[in-house]
Amino acid sequence: MSAHHHDPEEDRPAERMDWRLWRRLVGYTLRYRRWTLMLIGCAIATGTVDGLFNLVVGRIVDAATDPGGDVVRWLCAYAGLIVLLCLLVRTFVSLGGRIRAHVAHDIRAEAFANVQRLSLDYFDKRPVGWLLARQTSDCDRLSQALSWGLLDIAWGLTTMTVSALAMLWLDLRLGLIALSVVPVLWVASLWFQRRILRTARQVRGLNSRLTAAYDETLSGVATVRAFGAQTGFQSRFEELTGSMRRRSVANANLSALYLPLVLSLAGLAGGLCLGFGGVSVFDGAISVGTLVAFLGYSRQFFEPLQEMAAWFCEFQMAQASAERVFGLIDEVPTVKDTPRALERLAAASERAGADGSAPDGLAPDGLPPRIGELRLEGVHFRYGDGPDVLAGLDLVIPEGATVALVGPTGGGKTTLTSLLCRFREPTRGRLVTSGVEYRERSLAWWQEQLGVVLQEPHLFSGTLADNLRYAKPGATDAELVEVARLAQLDRVLESHPDGFETQVGAGGARLSMGERQLVSLARALLADPQLLVMDEATSSVDTATERRLQAAVEQALVGRTAVVVAHRLSTIRGADLIVVIEGGRIVESGTHTELLERRGRYAELEALSR
Ligand SMILES: Nc1ncnc2c1ncn2[C@@H]1O[C@H](COP(=O)(O)OP(=O)(O)O)[C@@H](O)[C@H]1O
Ligand SMILES: [Mg+2]
Repeated sequence: MSAHHHDPEEDRPAERMDWRLWRRLVGYTLRYRRWTLMLIGCAIATGTVDGLFNLVVGRIVDAATDPGGDVVRWLCAYAGLIVLLCLLVRTFVSLGGRIRAHVAHDIRAEAFANVQRLSLDYFDKRPVGWLLARQTSDCDRLSQALSWGLLDIAWGLTTMTVSALAMLWLDLRLGLIALSVVPVLWVASLWFQRRILRTARQVRGLNSRLTAAYDETLSGVATVRAFGAQTGFQSRFEELTGSMRRRSVANANLSALYLPLVLSLAGLAGGLCLGFGGVSVFDGAISVGTLVAFLGYSRQFFEPLQEMAAWFCEFQMAQASAERVFGLIDEVPTVKDTPRALERLAAASERAGADGSAPDGLAPDGLPPRIGELRLEGVHFRYGDGPDVLAGLDLVIPEGATVALVGPTGGGKTTLTSLLCRFREPTRGRLVTSGVEYRERSLAWWQEQLGVVLQEPHLFSGTLADNLRYAKPGATDAELVEVARLAQLDRVLESHPDGFETQVGAGGARLSMGERQLVSLARALLADPQLLVMDEATSSVDTATERRLQAAVEQALVGRTAVVVAHRLSTIRGADLIVVIEGGRIVESGTHTELLERRGRYAELEALSR
């Protein structure tokens, strides 16, 4: 699926520089203004010191060939430069590393914080692999460009400027001759870099698709084996790696041509200098030392080019990374507090005591703290721009009642529960709680009142106790034991020697599905919620455990409002209200006996389930 969603075109580097984006990006580096200025200062100083070497070497040669020359003085200068260079390099490497780590941290933290806020509809459209890549490779690329990139560019430009100036200063005519290859170099560089960039982009695009295909094959490894589908995946994989190899080779070939081109132009410049310079030395117009220094500069001038060209490429890729990461940072959640709710929150916190407690026992938004009666009024819902999955539900859930949702798969039961949890909001219609539309209440408050057992329970890696405490971080051991007993989890605990300290593995992979459901149920009960929402919470639990559980759950539901999606109809006979949902509509509702007497859809399902 991820391969499907992934659009390789989005790895396309920008055609032109987007300066607004870069200003924002450089802003991340500039949060560490002092370090950044020091880094650039170091780079410029290093370039300058680098440039002085050739001058000193020239002086040493002249001093050595002149009987009265002071070789020792220039040798000392040479040694001094080396020490200085070492210090500078040490400083900028540590500065660069520090800036990079901080920038990567900041961008990552901002993106992560926003992803945590985003609503579920965002994740419907984006595969996990896509989000991972934003958080890892894109953030890496950005922090790299914003630290080492800046450094290398400043260093390279300084070295080239110093070399060019030194050549012109040493001998104007020779300098101009050496620099005459620059226009050729410029044109050739543009030509090559454009092509290198294009192949690099193709390689990246293929790489993303390869990763997605790999991800999918691995996460579905058991299914792939079960259907003997290895060969199909293998050939798809080989096709992708094959094109990737071809594009990588093309990229390597271009780079392999560009480097010799730079080298031969540098050689040409050096040769020209040597030819014309040799004649000048012969004429006595310049010293041998000057010629030696000159040749050094003509080589040094070209040295940073390869690296700078690579950064030029990299910056364009980084711009595309920045667009994607900022896309994450700037994405606005679709489910969030409305302006009205925010006003209420602000007003209530003003009235609140200094200790932050809500006044008069009200909720943080200044409204009654009870959920009370829940009323669905003409609730419609659709995913994206798909068809209506819920088509006008009207339902009253009295306070403290247990309402069971039943009906065929795909009818919309899970969707309805996610509306109740406000993971998603109705596209039309209202959901009213004690007289107020729930979108006018604080989202955080609402979700704190809920205990949710999802159809696909998710546990986090860590121990069983850790997982329970997600619902209530300060829960005591006694509380854990109590909810474990309620949720029939004690037998599971007995069968694992480590008890509450059992490691559940990532996603709870080391527990059976039924065990995960029990943990998830215990977790929901621990929070002591006003509204308990359970979606086929016991579908994978054996019948004996379920029967015991049923009694316990009934006890736990006393005084709470509960909405329960039932897998086995036998478990919901005692519900206060049974609602049959089919094709996004309520087709029947009533108690078990009422519905059986009606001999309608429920009676039919009930007969089938026996
Ligand atoms: N994330 C989603 N994106 C698009 N369609 C969805 C999504 N989740 C569920 N659906 C669709 O909504 C309909 C109802 O699904 P669901 O509420 O899970 O039914 P139930 O829980 O009753 O089996 C189905 O047709 C399903 O294909
Ligand atoms: Mg479902």
